[in-house]
Amino acid sequence: MEQRIALVTGANRGIGLEVCRQLVRLGIRVVLTARREDKGRAAVEELAAEGLNVSFLPLDVTSEKDRLRILEDITREFGRLDILINNAGISIDFNVPALEVSFDEVIRPTIETNLYGPLHLTQLFVPLMRKHDYGRIVNVSSGLGSFSKITSGRIAYRLSKVGLNAMTKVFADELKDTNILVNVMTPGWVRTNLGGVKAERSTEQGADTIIWLATLPDDGPRGRFFRDRQDFPW
Ligand SMILES: NC(=O)c1ccc[n+]([C@@H]2O[C@H](COP(=O)([O-])OP(=O)(O)OC[C@H]3O[C@@H](n4cnc5c(N)ncnc54)[C@H](OP(=O)(O)O)[C@@H]3O)[C@@H](O)[C@H]2O)c1
Repeated sequence: MEQRIALVTGANRGIGLEVCRQLVRLGIRVVLTARREDKGRAAVEELAAEGLNVSFLPLDVTSEKDRLRILEDITREFGRLDILINNAGISIDFNVPALEVSFDEVIRPTIETNLYGPLHLTQLFVPLMRKHDYGRIVNVSSGLGSFSKITSGRIAYRLSKVGLNAMTKVFADELKDTNILVNVMTPGWVRTNLGGVKAERSTEQGADTIIWLATLPDDGPRGRFFRDRQDFPW
C-alpha cells in the first residue's frame, strides 16, 4: 500500500501540532500547515528534534490564494491527499452578549476561519481524494457547537461550529457511495492557547479521536459527531 498523505490545518501549535506528531508516528506522511511561515517552520523543527519528519506548507485557511496554491503543491508533489484534518480555529467572542458582538471584528472572521475555511478545503480536495477512492476528513468542532446544548453567549464560535457540524452531515451524505468518510468531533476542554491553562485535558487526549477518525477502516462511520470515540449529541 502507498504511504498515506495527510494535511493538517492550524498545526503550528496546540491540538493540530499533536495530531501531526501522532500521524507521523503511525507512518503517515504529514503536511503540517500554518498561516505564519516562521511559526510553521518552528513547529517542524520541534518535531524534527523528536526524530519526526514532516513537510511544511503555508496555509491561511481564509485565503483563497493560499488554498489554491496548496492544492497545486500537494497535487504536484504527491498526486494525492488521503487525510484532511480541518483543525484551524479561533475563538474570540468571550463574554460579549450576542446583541453587542461586532460583526466585522468577531463574527465574520470566526465564521470565515472555522466554517468557510473547512468548507473551501473540502470542496477543493474531495476531487483529488475521489481519484484514489480514499479519503478521511476530520472536522474539529466543539461541544459549544452541539445544537441541543446551546445557551447564551459565544454566538460567533457557536454558529461556526454548528455550521461545521451541519457541513459534515451534508458532505458525508453526498459522499456516501465513495470511500471518503467525513466526520466531526469535539476534543473536550484542552490545555492550549484557545482552551487556556485551566483546561482539564492534554493535547494528547484532545488529539486521540482525531487520529482514530483519520485512520478509520473503509467500513467505518461517516457523518457522525464524536467525543472520546463515542457518539456525541448534535
Ligand atoms: N482547546 C480546547 O479546549 C478546544 C475545545 C473545543 C474545540 N477546540 C477546537 O480545536 C481546534 C484547535 O484548537 P487549539 O485548542 O489547538 O487552539 P490553538 O492552540 O489556539 O491553535 C489554533 C491553531 O489554529 C491556527 N489558526 C487560526 N486561524 C487560522 C487561519 N486563518 N489559518 C490557519 N490557521 C489558523 C492558529 O495559528 P496561529 O498560531 O497563527 O494563531 C493555531 O495554530 C480549533 O478548531 C478549536 O476550535 C479546542
